[in-house]
Amino acid sequence: MPEVIFYMASSLNGLICRTDDKTNFVSDDEWKHGFIPIVDDVKSMIMGRKTYEVMCDSNEFNHLHKDLFVVVVTKQNNFQTKNNNHVIATSPEEALDEVTEKGFERTLISGGTILNSSFLQQRLVDKVIVDIEPILVADGKQLFKTHETDIDLKLLDIKKLTDDLIQVHYKVRK
Ligand SMILES: NC(=O)c1ccc[n+]([C@@H]2O[C@H](COP(=O)([O-])OP(=O)(O)OC[C@H]3O[C@@H](n4cnc5c(N)ncnc54)[C@H](OP(=O)(O)O)[C@@H]3O)[C@@H](O)[C@H]2O)c1
Repeated sequence: MPEVIFYMASSLNGLICRTDDKTNFVSDDEWKHGFIPIVDDVKSMIMGRKTYEVMCDSNEFNHLHKDLFVVVVTKQNNFQTKNNNHVIATSPEEALDEVTEKGFERTLISGGTILNSSFLQQRLVDKVIVDIEPILVADGKQLFKTHETDIDLKLLDIKKLTDDLIQVHYKVRK
């Protein structure tokens, strides 16, 4: 089973996008010093169908490594991805099977709220990495939906990526 790393950019108050799905409070520095290095290192990521569509619409995959393996989680069996390296899965477990079959030792869980909640509630996450933008966003979607139980974490590292941006690393206590 690959190591499952929950990786997100967030406002200080735990929001990942605005209510209209805009992420314009996430800085270019976060993309350059946070997102790109970790995606290039891990080389596989799992995301919800909505996040995938947002990333395709804004051509974000053009700026990522062409061999990046992406699993899109959706209940739609006939959902069409835009690239041969992008496959679909109908559940978190099936998404992890896809990553395992390809031989990846680690994978990123990269949003959005609904997909994150599925993985966290099923206790499938090993590590949490969050880039925290210096802003309290007025309203938007949370890192994850409300849970029935707490998830205890152990702090592993804090990195200062720029003057304004920090990255926190936690291990999930199981
Ligand atoms: N700040 C950041 O780092 C960051 C990162 C990623 C995303 N985002 C933002 O997050 C927003 C999208 O979040 P969202 O919560 O609306 O959507 P989402 O989690 O990206 O996608 C939700 C969809 O994924 C599928 N899905 C999720 N869990 C599933 C499960 N357990 N089994 C089967 N299918 C499942 C379903 O697709 P179907 O409806 O097709 O069945 C569901 O409707 C976007 O605005 C994006 O920009 C921000």
